[in-house]
Amino acid sequence: MKAATKQEAIRPTNLAWLNLPNLPNPLKALFAGYLLVIGVGLLMAGLQIMMTHGMADGKVGLSKNDIVYSYYGDRNHSKLESMLNGQMKAMAPDDVRADIIKWVHKGAPKADWDDHFKGVFAQHCVSCHSVVPNIPNYKNFEEVQKVAATSTGATWEALTRVSHIHLFGISFIFFLMGFVFSFAVGVPKKLKIFAIGFPFLFLIIDVMSWWLTKLSPNFAYFTIIGGIGYSIASTFMWFTSMYQMFILSRSGKVYGNAWEQDL
Ligand code: HEC
Repeated sequence: MKAATKQEAIRPTNLAWLNLPNLPNPLKALFAGYLLVIGVGLLMAGLQIMMTHGMADGKVGLSKNDIVYSYYGDRNHSKLESMLNGQMKAMAPDDVRADIIKWVHKGAPKADWDDHFKGVFAQHCVSCHSVVPNIPNYKNFEEVQKVAATSTGATWEALTRVSHIHLFGISFIFFLMGFVFSFAVGVPKKLKIFAIGFPFLFLIIDVMSWWLTKLSPNFAYFTIIGGIGYSIASTFMWFTSMYQMFILSRSGKVYGNAWEQDL
C-alpha cells in the first residue's frame, strides 16, 4: 500500500471555489483590473518599440537590422545619417538630407561647414537644436562632428540603466500575471508550469541579448526570440485568465481548488 498522497493528506481543506471561474467577484475585479491595465501597457510597449527601435534602420517595422543598429550600432554609418533617415527625416527635404549625408560620408570636413553646411543646419535644424534643452546644439560644428562619427550603438551606461529597470519592472508584471493564471482550471500542470516559468527565462534571454548584440550583431536574433517568447506566454495567460473569470464562470459549475489540483 502506498502512503497517503499529498492530496489525501491535506483534505478536507478543499476550498472548492479557489479557481478563476469561481473566485469571489471582488477578487475577480482586482485580477481583471490589473490584467486590463497590464494589457494596455504591453500594447503601448509594443507600439513604443515599433516607433523607436522599429525606425532605427529608417524603415517601418522591427527587423534584425533595427536591433543591430540600436545596440551594436551602424558602424558604416553615423548617428547623424541614421537620424536623418529615421526620426529626423521630416526635418529637411530629401535633397538637403542627401547633401548632408554625402558630406558625412566624406568625413564631414570643417571646410564645407564654414561655407555651406553651417547655413543648411541654421535653416533646418537649429530652430530646435540650440533651443530645446538636452539635445545637441547644431550651431556648433563640434556637436555636429560628434554625431557625424560612426555609431557604436547603445552605450554601456544606457544598457545598464535600461537592463535593471527592465528586469525589475517586467519580472514584477510576470509574477502577478503568473499568480493570477495559477488559479486557472483545466490547464495541464506541465503547460501551466511552462506558461508561468518561461517568461522569466525569455526575459533573461532578452536582456542578455542586448549586451551580446552590443558585442556582435549576430546575437540580435536572441532579442527577437526573447520578445516573441514572452509575448506568446503572456498573451496565453492573459486570455485564459479573462476567459475563465468571465465566460467559463457562466456555466455555474464548481471547478474545485485549482492549486490542490496542481499538487
Ligand atoms: C522640431 C524640432 C527638431 C528639428 C527641426 C530637428 N531636430 Fe533633431 N532632434 C530633435 C529632438 C527632440 C531630438 C531628441 C530625440 C530623442 O532623444 O529621441 C533630436 C535628436 C537629433 C539627433 C540625435 C542627437 C543625439 O546625440 O542623440 C540628431 C543627429 C539630430 N536630431 C539631427 C537633426 C538634424 C540634422 C536636423 C536638421 C535637418 C534636425 N535634427 C532637426 C528635434 C529636432
